[in-house]
Amino acid sequence: MRMYDIIEKKRDGKALTKDEIEFFVNGYTDGSIPDYQVSALLMAIYLQDMNQEERAILTTAMVESGDKIDLSAIDGIKVDKHSTGGVGDTTTLILAPLVASVDVPVAKMSGRGLGHTGGTIDKLEAVPGFHVEISNDEFIDLVNKNKVAVIGQSGNLTPADKKIYSLRDVTATVSSIPLIASSIMSKKIAAGADAIVLDVKTGAGAFMKNETDAKELAHAMVSIGNKVGRNTMAVISDMSQPLGRAIGNALEIKEAIDTLQGNGPDDLTELCLTLGSQMVVLAQKAKTIEDARAMLEENLRNGKALAHFKLFLASQGGDATVVDHPEQLPQAKYQIELIAKKSGTVAEIVANEIGAAAMMLGAGRATKESIIDLAVGIVLHKKVGDPVQEGEALLTIHSNSEDVQDVMDKLYANINISTETVTPPTLIYNVVTE
Ligand code: URA
Ligand code: CA
Repeated sequence: MRMYDIIEKKRDGKALTKDEIEFFVNGYTDGSIPDYQVSALLMAIYLQDMNQEERAILTTAMVESGDKIDLSAIDGIKVDKHSTGGVGDTTTLILAPLVASVDVPVAKMSGRGLGHTGGTIDKLEAVPGFHVEISNDEFIDLVNKNKVAVIGQSGNLTPADKKIYSLRDVTATVSSIPLIASSIMSKKIAAGADAIVLDVKTGAGAFMKNETDAKELAHAMVSIGNKVGRNTMAVISDMSQPLGRAIGNALEIKEAIDTLQGNGPDDLTELCLTLGSQMVVLAQKAKTIEDARAMLEENLRNGKALAHFKLFLASQGGDATVVDHPEQLPQAKYQIELIAKKSGTVAEIVANEIGAAAMMLGAGRATKESIIDLAVGIVLHKKVGDPVQEGEALLTIHSNSEDVQDVMDKLYANINISTETVTPPTLIYNVVTE
């Protein structure tokens, strides 16, 4: 088999066979096929697309390029949740203990964040003592005992994706549906879950800026998951403005506690119940979405979800007393309000720019080596559609530096107040099951 012929075939719009796809993925991973040939093939895929069969084969080939996590020692159907990424996305912190509280096993492998806030692990480390450096055996035991545990990324997962993603980054081939879908799904499948719930974000703060693209990506990923034997569903949700009110690591822990107590922001609570219901159904702990939702709502009301969060934190060394005393979480030195300069209705809070402002405060990493400040961030007091009076606080900046002028300028430039009627954005656009 020659790489030249594979490039030519895809250039001419033909479907590649399993052997051809495996040939290029394996050859690129082991270094026998050079960057320039894979670059040409990626561009051909970008321009000519791949059918559903090819996408599933590509995904599997990338999964097979490295280690796979074996979760078979955990009882029950393991359901993973994946978000395509957004600003102030606190859902994992809430969903993990919430669905665990109705007996759905959550075996979460998580990473540190790059960008506007930390990843799930960074956020959890805002709880004094909490750590993810546990052995695989401990991880499995904890999930069997408590239904929930989080472990840091380990092993050599999907090396083919790492190499291909880096090459896409420098060849203008990142924004290709078959390539994005196979990249994301290969990592989820290698991480071992039996079923997968995807939260595909759309809007200014998302990878997919419009609903049409988000829908196409959701369908592509659901199709891959189902083709390779992992029951997969997707929810398309809004990321035009930040989710919930808090953006920042310790601030999002506080927001998760509030939400698990039933006092969270409406949008965050609703999205967690929607995603959580899908997870409960996929785990076969409820027959219908309505039944699943009722179970989750009940555990938010009766305190079981919150109790599960405490159990989860304590079992990985965390000081669970922060749940009742969130003032023990890292606190920033200064709390500075951003005051509305005019009256009207909030028309726009540009998610990616608000994320960038949080990063300027130190809530996220600019590079892998950056050290994040767990205490800092932003808490919104107004969301799109809310009325606001001149002089009222739009948000509070939590900062360890007194000089936040640049951050304030950025925030003012990206929060629009209108005198016209404003319709708040739709939170959940669609649920995709095939
Ligand atoms: N995230 C991924 O993991 N892969 C992509 O290709 C795009 C976003
Ligand atoms: Ca949030």
